[in-house]
Amino acid sequence: MRLPERVTIYEVGPRDGLQNEQSVLPTRHKAEFVRRLLAAGLPVVEATSFVHPRWVPQLADAELLMKELGEAGEDCPVLVPNERGLDRALELGVRHIAIFGSATETFAQKNLNRSLDEQFAMFEPTVRRARDAGLDVRAYVSMCFGDPWEGDVPVDQVVTVGKRLFDLGASQLSLGDTIGVGTANQVTALVEAFVAAGMSLDQLALHFHDTYGQALANAYAGLQAGITTFDASAGGLGGCPYAKSATGNLATEDLVWLLTGLGIEHGVDLDALVATSAWMAGLLGRPSPSAVVRALAN
Ligand code: HMG
Ligand code: MG
Repeated sequence: MRLPERVTIYEVGPRDGLQNEQSVLPTRHKAEFVRRLLAAGLPVVEATSFVHPRWVPQLADAELLMKELGEAGEDCPVLVPNERGLDRALELGVRHIAIFGSATETFAQKNLNRSLDEQFAMFEPTVRRARDAGLDVRAYVSMCFGDPWEGDVPVDQVVTVGKRLFDLGASQLSLGDTIGVGTANQVTALVEAFVAAGMSLDQLALHFHDTYGQALANAYAGLQAGITTFDASAGGLGGCPYAKSATGNLATEDLVWLLTGLGIEHGVDLDALVATSAWMAGLLGRPSPSAVVRALAN
């Protein structure tokens, strides 16, 4: 089995991490977080969300943050659920957006206030206009490995919804284990199912949450399946406020440790990253859930 030589880490800490925190950080701390992550060598840092501020008050300062970041934020992707969110992002010169759909009916309702089918009517004009404006679009599909309300989610259903989201005009599809219940065999099967449905490995990314401690094992299964983009969150922050039992993402430090050990290039300065997560844990007032941060932070 040949592992990839190089992996792209798609950092979601400032978005997935901070959207789930009880405390709302001042914008200047969020901006410093993004800057430090970029300086630590992370090639992609998802900065914030242009969702409804009442739905995610933690990220209600999206405009302010992007202004504060200025040029540094130009290549940072942001979440955009609909045309209203796109208008807000376009006004700030954002170049990369991510839409986020659900593989299940219940989570579509809870997270987007739309049915599974209705979510496409919301995303279709959003992606079309984004592409017309020259933006790059990523698509997430959530609840790929299990749903807290519906239980097991059939692989066929995940593939159908995921392909439909991707085919709206995305350059990449990120497969989300939103509540962290998946295991390595499921990762292998899902990647194989998407490839059998005509998607190439470089069009797929994996997005793990670590609720059941499976995220790193699942990432390894993804590497073995040939995936080269992995979402991760500095310090293991994260979760979704609209998904029961969603906890932190795969910690970027834990992923970096694994990749380094396997001899896979990632371009990240682990010391700078750990220092950033330790600083953030101090601001949030609790220790980082990342094992590697706890082991290395002074
Ligand atoms: P809605 O209430 O159905 O919105 O929410 P609407 O379309 O009916 O509009 C109602 C009002 O909201 C209107 O204002 C709109 O203009 C305004 P009015 O005309 O009444 O004055 N509005 C907005 N304002 C600012 N920004 C906007 C916006 N949209 C509408 N973008 C909506 C629908 C999608 C907006 C809402 O459900 C929402 O914001 N949901 C976001 C939930 C969320 O952010 N969840 C977390 C991210 S997903 C995640 O974490 C999973 C992921 O990590 C992958 C994984 O782990 O699986 C990505
Ligand atoms: Mg997530």
